[in-house]
Amino acid sequence: MCGIIGILGDHEAAPALVDALKRLEYRGYDSAGIATVNDGHLDRRRAVGKLVNLTDLLVHDPLPGKSGIGHTRWATHGAPTVVNAHPHRAGPVAVVHNGIIENFRELRAELATHGYAAESDTDTETIALLAQSFLDAGKTPVEAAEAAISRLEGAFALAFLFDGEPDLIVGARKGSPLAVGHGDGEMYLGSDAIALAPLTDRITYLEEGDRVILTRAGATIRDAGGRLVNRPMRRIRVDAARIEKDGHRHFMAKEIAEQPAVLARVIDAYLDGDALRFPTGLPDFAQVERVVMVACGTAFYACLTAKYWLERIARLPVEVDVASEFRYREPPVGPNTLAIFVSQSGETADTLAALRYCRDKAAILSVVNVPESSIARESDLALPIHAGVEVGVASTKAFTCQLAVLALVALKAGVDRGTLDAADAAALRAALRSLPGLVSQALNAGEAIEAVSHDLSKARDILFLGRGIMYPIALEGALKLKEISYIHAEGYASGELKHGPIALIDPAVPVIVMAPRDGLFDKTVSNMQEVMARGGKVVLVTDAAGARAASEGAWRVIEMPSVPDVLAPILYAIPAQLLAYHTAVAKGTDVDQPRNLAKSVTVE
Ligand code: F6R
Repeated sequence: MCGIIGILGDHEAAPALVDALKRLEYRGYDSAGIATVNDGHLDRRRAVGKLVNLTDLLVHDPLPGKSGIGHTRWATHGAPTVVNAHPHRAGPVAVVHNGIIENFRELRAELATHGYAAESDTDTETIALLAQSFLDAGKTPVEAAEAAISRLEGAFALAFLFDGEPDLIVGARKGSPLAVGHGDGEMYLGSDAIALAPLTDRITYLEEGDRVILTRAGATIRDAGGRLVNRPMRRIRVDAARIEKDGHRHFMAKEIAEQPAVLARVIDAYLDGDALRFPTGLPDFAQVERVVMVACGTAFYACLTAKYWLERIARLPVEVDVASEFRYREPPVGPNTLAIFVSQSGETADTLAALRYCRDKAAILSVVNVPESSIARESDLALPIHAGVEVGVASTKAFTCQLAVLALVALKAGVDRGTLDAADAAALRAALRSLPGLVSQALNAGEAIEAVSHDLSKARDILFLGRGIMYPIALEGALKLKEISYIHAEGYASGELKHGPIALIDPAVPVIVMAPRDGLFDKTVSNMQEVMARGGKVVLVTDAAGARAASEGAWRVIEMPSVPDVLAPILYAIPAQLLAYHTAVAKGTDVDQPRNLAKSVTVE
C-alpha cells in the first residue's frame, strides 16, 4: 500500500524517481509525487491519478536536483487529491509515508495549538509538521526526524528530505517494509527490491523499528532502541525484478500465460525425481497434531483448498481463517500446531500480525512469493513459490504456485504420517508432474472463454458454484471477476444454494459451475439442474466426460482437459482467471490496476 523511493544520486533524480514509482505503482495508484533538493532548495510536484499524470506535469514543470524522494499513493486518510498527495511538506521538510499513523488526530490537534496547521486530510502531513516543529525548536534535521518518529503510533515506512540538505535522507520502518540500496557514490531507499532493482543489486532490508540516516557515503542504521546495528547486505537478482509485458496486452494476461512455466519451475524446485526436496526445518508431520492456516484474499482461498488436501491426504485437522479475523480472535494455538501463512507479497499487514500472534505458540511456516519479505523473514521456515514478480493486481500465477507448494506439503504430510501409501504417493507425484502440460492445454480454452465473457460482461450479478475441493475455486472465480470487472459475483458451495442464494436465480444471472467429472460430479449436476429449472443460465466448466454427461440445457460449456481429481483446483483456476480477464477486457476496465485496489496491502 503506497510505494516510496529515495535517491541521493549523481544524476538528475526526477527521471529515476519516476521510473522507480512506475515499478511501485502496483502498490497504489491514486496519486503520485516527488520532491527534490536543488541548489539547496526543496521543491515538489504532485499529480492525482496514474503516474502518467505526474510525468506529464514534469514535462511542463520540471523538477531539477540530484537528491529526492517519491511516492505513489493508495489513499487511506483523505480523498485522492493533489493536496492529499505525497510528498507532504511543512516548511523545510518533505515526507513520504507508507502505512497509517493511528495517533495523528491527537498530534494534529496538539500541533495546531502551537500554530502548525495542516492543509491536507492525511495522517502523513502530521509527520512533516512534527519534524518542522522540532526544527524550529533548534534540532538538526536528523534529530528532528528522530523526534518526530518517536511520537508516532501505528505503521510506517518513511523518508524525510530537508531544505538545504542535498546529501541527506532519513528513513524509518515500523510495520511497513523499507530497504536501503547501495550504489557507487549513490544511495537509495525504497519500499522493495522491485523499486531498487534497476538502480542497484545490493540491498539491505531494514528490520522492524530501524531508522536509517542515508548520505552518499553510506547508511547508518539504528534499531528501535537507538543502538547502532549492522544489517546484512544482500545481492538481489536484477532480472528477477524485471517487469515487462513481453508482448501481452496486460500484465495479467502475461502472468496467466506464464503458468505452465512457473508451475514446472516450482514443482522442479521441490520434487527431485521421486524425492521431495524441502529445505531443512519443515516439521515431521507425524508429530503435528493440528494445522492452522491464515491468509487474505486469494491466498486465503489457496489455504481453503489446502485444507481439503491436508485433511484428505494426511488426515490432519486443519483450521483456516482470514488474517484480519484471526489476529483479533486470539484463538488458542497449541504447541503441536503448525501455523501456515500464505502470502504472495509477504507483506500483508493482517497476515503478518497473525503470524506474530502465533510466534512462540506454534511452529511457523510461510508460503511466499517474495523470499526477502517480512513474513518470510519472521517465519521458522519460508517456502518460496517461485512465481516470479507478479505485477497484475489480481493474483493469478501466484495462486496456482501457492497451490502447487501446498499440494507438495500435503504429499510430504501424507508420507510422514503414513496415510499415503507408496502407490498413492507415486500417483500424486505423477499428477504434479503432468500439471504444467495440463495447464498449457487449459489455456487453449482462451478463445471459447473470450466468447462467453463477451456475454458475461453484460451481466450485473454472476454466481460461481463448486462442490468439495472445487468450492474454493468458485470463491476465487467470483473474487477475480468482481475485482477486475466490477461485476458483482459470489461463490457458493453448490449444496448451499438451496439454503438461500437460489432466490437470486433468474435469466439475467449467469451461473458458472466448476465441475470436473469427479466423485461429487453428479451431486453438483443436480444443483445445476435446480438452477436451470428456475431459468438460470449455466456456464458449465468441466472435462470431456462431464460435458458428455451433463451439457444438455447448459447455456455454454467450457471444456478442460481431464485431470486427476486431487489437482483439479489448480487446473480450474485457469478458466476462472480467463473468465475474469476477458470479461474485464470486454467491459474496458483497467485490468492490471483495478479501481480502489492495490497489490500489496500493508495497512490493516
Ligand atoms: C486478489 C488478490 C488479493 C490478495 C490478498 C493477499 O486477486 O490478489 O486478494 O490475494 O490481498 O495478498 P498477499 O498474497 O500478498 O498476502
